[in-house]
Amino acid sequence: MSEDTPTAGSRHILVAVAWPYANGSLHLGHLAGAYLPADVFARYHRINGDRVLMVSGSDAHGTPITVRADNEGVSPREIVERFHPEFLRYWDELGISFDCFTSTMTENHHEVTREMFQALRDNGYLEIRTTEQFYDPQVERFLPDRYVEGTCPNCGATDARGDQCDTCGKTLDPGDLIDPRSKLSDATPEPRATDHWFILLSKLQEPVAEWLATREGWRNHVINWAQGFVRGGLHDRAITRDLAWGVELPEDAGLDNPQDKRIYVWFDAVIGYLSASKEWAQTQGDPDAWKAWWEDPAAESYYFIGKDNIPFHAVYWPAQLLGAGDLNLPTNVPGNQYVTFKGAKASKSKGVGGSLLDELERYQPDALRYAMATNLPEYNDVDLTTDEIVRRINDELVATWGNLVNRVLAMTGKQFDGVVPEPVDPDERDLALLAEVDDRLAAAQGLLERVELRAALKEAMAGAQAANAYLNALEPWKTAKTDRARTATTLWVALQAIAGLNVAFAPYVPFGSAELDRWLGGDGDLSGRGWSRPEVAAGTQLGTPTPLFRKVELPTEVDAD
Ligand code: MF3
Ligand code: ZN
Repeated sequence: MSEDTPTAGSRHILVAVAWPYANGSLHLGHLAGAYLPADVFARYHRINGDRVLMVSGSDAHGTPITVRADNEGVSPREIVERFHPEFLRYWDELGISFDCFTSTMTENHHEVTREMFQALRDNGYLEIRTTEQFYDPQVERFLPDRYVEGTCPNCGATDARGDQCDTCGKTLDPGDLIDPRSKLSDATPEPRATDHWFILLSKLQEPVAEWLATREGWRNHVINWAQGFVRGGLHDRAITRDLAWGVELPEDAGLDNPQDKRIYVWFDAVIGYLSASKEWAQTQGDPDAWKAWWEDPAAESYYFIGKDNIPFHAVYWPAQLLGAGDLNLPTNVPGNQYVTFKGAKASKSKGVGGSLLDELERYQPDALRYAMATNLPEYNDVDLTTDEIVRRINDELVATWGNLVNRVLAMTGKQFDGVVPEPVDPDERDLALLAEVDDRLAAAQGLLERVELRAALKEAMAGAQAANAYLNALEPWKTAKTDRARTATTLWVALQAIAGLNVAFAPYVPFGSAELDRWLGGDGDLSGRGWSRPEVAAGTQLGTPTPLFRKVELPTEVDAD
């Protein structure tokens, strides 16, 4: 964000979150790599009074889905219909607050995809070319993308897939692989001629480079990678595949056998951000409502993705948008590094770590969100252990923030029947704590605007530590017997501090924050209240507190890791 970006409310903020392939469960690596940071950012903006549209959906197409369907002998649709409801449960239970989480199987998405195809074609950025694609002579099928595996030409990993190498992250074509083999039969594939539509990225290279040069405040690893990649030269790329699953081509698409071809998954999936926005507008009864996020040049858009998705969001999707014309390009692409568990990438295809539903059996949603938020892989890969998760929850969330809330509300309950007392002549110790809370809120806001979510959470926790130190210095449990005015002032100040800190914690631990807000006399929804410390008026009847967060025990069946 630039210096003069407004922080007051009423901006339009599109929070675009990577569409997970609906071919397997998601785990902590996905949560930390995309969904949690997106949700924290969205919740911050909603509190700030901005108009947030947060969209994503199940990525239903491409060989990630069909390879699994082939393996199980079921239809690709059955695979998607198995995992899509599971994803919806994660969001519900974890409080990931999508405005629209749809899928790429909708009729709307297919139409919007064909519209963009058509716009690119009308603008002269698409062309049919005859190519050689791998063909499996045993099963008599073309082998796009993940149907071929082999050795990565870049890093030498022997399990690279035809679309991308998971080890080094390089995007590949099947023809790039050394010693290619068919996933269907293990046969060595043979090249065969077939026609495909290409996007003329060579023509879009200059506009993409110029646009990248205008980006401000991007993470170094994202902008450097994107600029280096574009400088290396963008090559025209096939956007159709010999596959029977995916978005059908427009009727006049002009290929010899269009019924056997589909639009490439990476061409259609990114268009999902637009089609989901349109779908959301339909559900609002205002079909044009999406335009405020996509056509108004003042609107902002943030794409939350893992680093393996950087090429598609920082280069190819902007190229599609530039070629089609008239729609907003990303304001920022805060790509994340990986969360690893003992050194292994938390990858769905490699199956490391339990599913998010498994994790939710062990941890409260807020606790899991807190532990992951303190470990977001914003700048580096993060190696996570169960010990680290448990320590963050017990020593910080429960012992510092939860305990602060509990002791202040319990003491006010005991000393003042749970009614917020009138302060009497606050002194500089009192004012210093309130000033610190205000400063920490302002600092957190600056960090949240720059998508530095880990650092913003540290501000909140430091404020909670300061409030605990204040209580330990003023000892209201002792002054209660001797000085009622002083006790009233201390508890009034502590309650104001808690109300302010609750704003800073709310994007991270929304369930606990809603509960605390109700105890403080609110309705539990901080949206639109503004990113500042509210006043809890003297005379307010407080709710009866129960522990906001639960301590976790290190599970004995888990090896100390
Ligand atoms: N399904 C892709 C993945 O899991 C991500 C797609 S993001 C999108 O890597 F924007 F293209 F949809
Ligand atoms: Zn590699």
